[in-house]
Amino acid sequence: MVNERRPDDMVRITTPELADAYIEERIAALKAQVGDKKVLLALSGGVDSSVVAAMLIKAIGQQLVCVHVNHGLLRKGEPEQVIEVFQNQMKANLVYVDATDRFLDKLAGVSDPETKRKIIGGEFIEVFAEEARKLDGIEFLAQGTIWPDILESEAGIKAHHNAGGLPEDMKFELVEPVRILFKDEVRIVGERLGLPANMVYRQPFPGPGLGVRCPGAITRDRLEAVRESDAILREEFAKNGLEGKVWQYFTVVPDFKSTGVKDGKRTFDWPCIIRAINTTDVMEVTVEHLSDELIDHLVNRIIKEVPGINRVLFDYTPKPPATVEYE
Ligand code: XMP
Repeated sequence: MVNERRPDDMVRITTPELADAYIEERIAALKAQVGDKKVLLALSGGVDSSVVAAMLIKAIGQQLVCVHVNHGLLRKGEPEQVIEVFQNQMKANLVYVDATDRFLDKLAGVSDPETKRKIIGGEFIEVFAEEARKLDGIEFLAQGTIWPDILESEAGIKAHHNAGGLPEDMKFELVEPVRILFKDEVRIVGERLGLPANMVYRQPFPGPGLGVRCPGAITRDRLEAVRESDAILREEFAKNGLEGKVWQYFTVVPDFKSTGVKDGKRTFDWPCIIRAINTTDVMEVTVEHLSDELIDHLVNRIIKEVPGINRVLFDYTPKPPATVEYE
């Protein structure tokens, strides 16, 4: 159904039974809408597109073509998880595009945050459109639009990402199977569709990915330092029962160096900043205070295991005045 709206009297999906009923109804509707035609989906591995993929795989199987564009700015293990879950376990028709070099070459030397965002967004659409042109007989484009996206775009808060700015000549009918759901409902539906909990309950992650956590001009070595330190932080949060409790946590490696000493020799390396925050609406944010023990452990692991880091800092700043991300 195009431009579908959430009915005022719709019961909030809070139980597995309600989620199952929603899934059943949607699968029937998707089959009716799509028939024997093909559907294309940009599968980032985020919550919304993953749930849309799982739902469509159930409804139309191989008529769905998922395209996963790896822009080189994803977290450690993310592209691998998309391939494992969707291609290996769910047997989806998945096109994996490693466009890392293309993105990083375009971003080389670009330090302005908005220009970086524009390059990442623009290049993403170009890569996706190129892949779409290689495919025959696609009539539908699936999107992970959710109800808050519609509400925010109607309120003028956020431009809705509908149809993602695809070139004019590429016209598809939209398929939006989670359009009328709130985020918590999408997560329950995803769980019932068999997606792993760490995919369905993951923390928010910006579209430009680790690119905004590597402030200034992105270099491959500093990006690797962000990716490795982020992986350590996530691993330790999971081990310490903080995963799913703290809203968002990540590392940032800024573009300056300071002196240090290692094995009796002078070093000149980057600092790694840890940020861990809580919020309900992301307009106001408080800092999650970690135990001294955990901070000590994180500092030790990061300076030992991540090349190029000789100092670890913790960001104690709420929002406002600081934003969550550094650019
Ligand atoms: P800020 O930094 O504005 O972040 O306080 C608020 C929330 O939005 C996320 N964020 C983004 N998400 N594209 C996204 O999809 C972006 O360009 C972007 N910038 C920030 C951020 O991670 C936080 O959850």
